[in-house]
Amino acid sequence: MTTFDAETERMILANQANWDARTPIHVASAFYGLDGSRPAASWLADYEWADLGDLDGVDLLHLQCHLGAETIALAERGARAVGLDISGESVRQARRLAADRRLDIEYVRADVYDAVGAVDGRTFDIVYTGKGALCYLPDLDPWASAVAQLLRPGGALYVVEFHPLLYALGVVPPKDGGEELTLRGDFLSGRGAEERDATRTYTDGPALTEATVAYEWRHELGEVVTALAGAGLRVDTVREDPRLPWPRWSSMVQDATGWFTLPADQPRIPLLYAVKAVR
Ligand SMILES: C[S@@+](CC[C@H](N)C(=O)[O-])C[C@H]1O[C@@H](n2cnc3c(N)ncnc32)[C@H](O)[C@@H]1O
Repeated sequence: MTTFDAETERMILANQANWDARTPIHVASAFYGLDGSRPAASWLADYEWADLGDLDGVDLLHLQCHLGAETIALAERGARAVGLDISGESVRQARRLAADRRLDIEYVRADVYDAVGAVDGRTFDIVYTGKGALCYLPDLDPWASAVAQLLRPGGALYVVEFHPLLYALGVVPPKDGGEELTLRGDFLSGRGAEERDATRTYTDGPALTEATVAYEWRHELGEVVTALAGAGLRVDTVREDPRLPWPRWSSMVQDATGWFTLPADQPRIPLLYAVKAVR
């Protein structure tokens, strides 16, 4: 169990309230397509499925699972899945969504830093996490230590996260009405917590009416790999990929796999990365 100073604990609680407030908007959103309009499997890239391998009968823990979009996909492929999230509203809705699909997924409400105790010391073949998860964690060393304790010997962490370059890029509207990507934010970490106005979430739907402030922490790719190595895990693969599961910018085009990338005449840059680390 990890404890932070009072100010950091306040930020984590603010994030919990913010995610509770976002949850009903996300459940109803076209973005998540939880009414069946978006197949759960499409939230994972082709390379994720390849790296994860056969999931039949595999014990899998999904950290920071939110509504369980990816948890559902992993359970549909045969994993015995447990999802964990700090937001009680997310967990409540995730349980309902799994029940609607007759999937036997266990959901646990807990801070990821308390995950080992929250799952009663159980261990897993795969710990899966990412796509907007690590940015809510103030410190990656205790996170990596918790992940190592959650894995069986030979078990693997699979973390798929937005690339630091994605966070650093912003849009400048040129005069012709198009949009141009430019460096607008930090690529490197080092500034500590960033307070963000989260009145508008990233999905379609209305604005939040409460708990509108969220806190994020930047983490470089090197920091992630170093934290995992420091926790005694063996880093097997680090991938960088130019695609996203949704169109972050209006210029993005859908490829044959259904994911989105910048047009071919634009620089080929990484927008997601995936790290597989084995205990
Ligand atoms: C963007 S979601 C990531 C899940 C998935 N990729 C998605 O897009 O639906 C981020 C999740 O992290 C959870 N979260 C934030 N801080 C957390 C913490 N300290 N412990 C556990 N969950 C946390 C939030 O409640 C939210 O559900």
